Amino acid sequence: MTQVGDLIVGGILIEDTAIQRRVEELAAEIDAAYPVLEQPLVLICVLKGSILFTADLARALTIPVELEFVACRSYGDATTSSGTVELVKDVSMTLRDRDVLMVEDIIDTGLTTSFLRKHLATHHPRSLRLVSLLDKRSHRMREVQIDFRGFDIPDHFVVGYGLDVAQRLRNLRDIHVVEVPLSAG
Ligand code: IMP
Repeated sequence: MTQVGDLIVGGILIEDTAIQRRVEELAAEIDAAYPVLEQPLVLICVLKGSILFTADLARALTIPVELEFVACRSYGDATTSSGTVELVKDVSMTLRDRDVLMVEDIIDTGLTTSFLRKHLATHHPRSLRLVSLLDKRSHRMREVQIDFRGFDIPDHFVVGYGLDVAQRLRNLRDIHVVEVPLSAG
């Protein structure tokens, strides 16, 4: 058990080996979904949470890829969404007529992804799809089309494999549940 402020990092929800297996499966699905590419697929890593997933996914894909990065702010250091999303870092290349795949760590309320999808659509890509490692549907506020989904997870705040609490624990290999002790409210 690790304590971060008032939060306790609890048991493992998804083990490293299960994550790696699912990443391989997702990569095979994505390879198959782009049989004819005029140019490499642009993987858009949504910083910071998707960094480890993007790195593993990119290496599991056999189709040619390019890597791009965007960053949004929606959560601060809390474990609940602030309800507003802002772009902190935009792409640095032109996406016009490119096949683009947004790579997300987790879809919770759906606010970040729907904001980003709208934003990236203004770049006029040839196609725009979404892969998300985790899907936490219980707090969904926006309808989100997830083209490639890793795992459905219950209503828990989770850390590890890129996901953080107060910027910490992104480097855990497994995905763990975070518990808020009753005394912390
Ligand atoms: P959404 O806009 O509510 O869908 O949230 C998207 C972002 O919130 C994700 O990319 C994560 O950075 C963060 N987030 C949502 N749920 C969790 C969680 O359980 N653990 C860590 N970060 C989370």
